[in-house]
Amino acid sequence: MGITILPFQMATKRFLLLISIAFAVILGFQYLELPYSNILFSLFSTNKIPTSESSTLQDEHALDVANKTRMSGEENITSNSEQKSGGPYANSPEIAPAYLNSPLSPITKVSPDITTMVSSNDYNVSLSRNDGNALDKNSSINSVPKENQGSPLPVSDVTTISEMNKLLLQSHASYRSMRPRWSSAVDQELLQARSKIENAPIVENDPNLYAPIFRNLSTFKRSYELMEETLKVYVYREGDKPILHSPYLVGVYASEGWFMKLIEADKRFVTEDPKMAHLFYLPFSSVMLVKTLYVPGSPSYENLIQYLHDYVDMIAGKHPFWNRTGGADHFLVACQDWAPSETKVHMAKCIRALCNADVKNGFVFGKDVSLPETHVRYAGNPTGELGGNSASNRTTLAFFAGKLHGYLRPILLQQWANKDPDMKIFGKLPKSKGNKDYINHMKSSKYCLCAKGFEVNSPRVVEAIFYECVPVIISDNFVPPFFETLNWESFAIFIMEKDIPNLKVILLSIPEKRYLLLQKRLKQVQQHFLWHKNPIKYDVFHMILHSIWYNRVFSATTT
Ligand SMILES: *[C@@H]1O[C@H](CO)[C@@H](O)[C@H](O)[C@H]1NC(C)=O
Ligand SMILES: *[C@@H]1O[C@H](CO)[C@@H](O)[C@H](O)[C@H]1NC(C)=O
Ligand SMILES: *[C@@H]1O[C@H](CO)[C@@H](O)[C@H](O)[C@H]1NC(C)=O
Ligand SMILES: *[C@@H]1O[C@H](CO)[C@@H](O)[C@H](O)[C@H]1NC(C)=O
Ligand SMILES: *[C@@H]1O[C@H](CO)[C@@H](O)[C@H](O)[C@H]1NC(C)=O
Ligand SMILES: *[C@@H]1O[C@H](CO)[C@@H](O)[C@H](O)[C@H]1NC(C)=O
Ligand SMILES: *[C@@H]1O[C@H](CO)[C@@H](O)[C@H](O)[C@H]1NC(C)=O
Repeated sequence: MGITILPFQMATKRFLLLISIAFAVILGFQYLELPYSNILFSLFSTNKIPTSESSTLQDEHALDVANKTRMSGEENITSNSEQKSGGPYANSPEIAPAYLNSPLSPITKVSPDITTMVSSNDYNVSLSRNDGNALDKNSSINSVPKENQGSPLPVSDVTTISEMNKLLLQSHASYRSMRPRWSSAVDQELLQARSKIENAPIVENDPNLYAPIFRNLSTFKRSYELMEETLKVYVYREGDKPILHSPYLVGVYASEGWFMKLIEADKRFVTEDPKMAHLFYLPFSSVMLVKTLYVPGSPSYENLIQYLHDYVDMIAGKHPFWNRTGGADHFLVACQDWAPSETKVHMAKCIRALCNADVKNGFVFGKDVSLPETHVRYAGNPTGELGGNSASNRTTLAFFAGKLHGYLRPILLQQWANKDPDMKIFGKLPKSKGNKDYINHMKSSKYCLCAKGFEVNSPRVVEAIFYECVPVIISDNFVPPFFETLNWESFAIFIMEKDIPNLKVILLSIPEKRYLLLQKRLKQVQQHFLWHKNPIKYDVFHMILHSIWYNRVFSATTT
């Protein structure tokens, strides 16, 4: 592994030098303008880096990913928090993944007070990707995805947020799922819903919905109403626990678990009659898939993919519904990092709600949904605390803390750690009770940096929303949650990875008035990211379901 360090560092230095030169040239005419990134972007676009998509060695990618998990801390499946809260495994002693017996298992190093742990500081957090055990020491180097080694930033082939907006619009005009093999009453209902949404009455305000955070309030409101009136979901009952039907409710991947738990208990949308269903839910857990089947140290996760393939074959063989649309009216909700790769072949046509919503890893606009990564500490209280200092009492300009996962965070730290009192940029923070330090930083900073780790997504995005710290997303090709409906640029800042040297200038160039507006809207967006044990209107459960419904409505076809 040592050999990877040198090229990585050299490449980083080369990159930083390049950045400084380009920055000096461009700064003069660049920084006062928003959007601010296109010119810099073009300068670096020659720096081609193969992505996993273009990698010719599929196995190599799998190997690398496999090593990453082993290096990262894994979770104690029967963690304290679940036991205390009577979580999903309280009555499931049968769940004992193979790796529990492995000498490599980082579980033994889980801090005893994990129930008090908070934040995605990635530090001493039992359910984060990395637990700070000995194996992790070199993980930021060991785990640099192979395809990125030697080239510090994937600056070529970046899809900016405005390009994503275009792709989304285009997808509505052109993306259509397979024609159903035979017709069903639901096909007409979907077409009618589409027409009603397209002709939505104009709504300018709503007492419960804040217009500026939506792309189009009228459309969202109409679509949501129609979902409430019309949508029926069939949940397949087949499949054994723990991979199927076992919601995992804590940790950074908890959103898939909460969705599963709440939909399986739902009375409003779920139908017992699959002929009535507009959507079919495949209730598997990508977390449990890894926990149950992945052998630590194994060079491949083919067996996980095979498991899902067999499951789909079983569903397709037993019921007529999969074959009717080739899976286009089926959906999955999966938060673990590998889910995009695991589902991209056999579940390619399904609507996939994924935390790892990466344009470069198969995310399809108009079909797939960006699932928020919500870090749940206690299954008994899925939302935890909210709020922070008033906008005028946020004394730090920008805050980041976390482990140096991936290629980007080392660059962020090299540029900004200990350089400037306005920029509180740290590696992992020293331990503090209940991770208070991390949270207090979020509560007292104007901007919270959400820099990508190994993958594009980060629980920081939702944490920033909770603590009312304007998120600054630094993760090229990341599709933010509920992209179909929310106008992210109205409450968050997007900065391209190559603009890290520019960070402070960009943030300072945002006028105070605009900052106040961003922060005000951010508070209004909170309600759409909250889990409730009994779901309430417009909460994150309904937002996930809505985005899936919306994409189905806009891609449905008839015979
Ligand atoms: C981390 O890397 C350094 C430098 O290559 C090496 O000396 C050290 O043994 C490694 N530590 C672990 C825990 O692998
Ligand atoms: C994965 O880890 C094993 C053992 O630690 C190592 O031999 C192998 O080269 C690693 N594979 C990759 C792709 O890094
Ligand atoms: C996992 O957590 C449970 C509950 O706290 C504990 O009893 C058990 O020893 C832990 N397992 C390991 C391997 O650390
Ligand atoms: C938790 O953090 C403390 C303080 O940095 C450290 O000494 C300890 O080893 C960490 N515990 C675990 C389990 O990583
Ligand atoms: C919102 O969508 C409706 C229905 O398609 C359309 O009539 C209206 O002009 C849109 N509003 C905005 C602000 O784009
Ligand atoms: C669906 O198609 C597959 C593959 O063509 C076939 O094996 C299966 O039997 C079909 N399912 C049903 C219920 O006919
Ligand atoms: C500002 O925030 C701090 C905590 O960060 C708090 O102690 C203080 O009372 C606040 N001041 C005002 C004027 O709200």
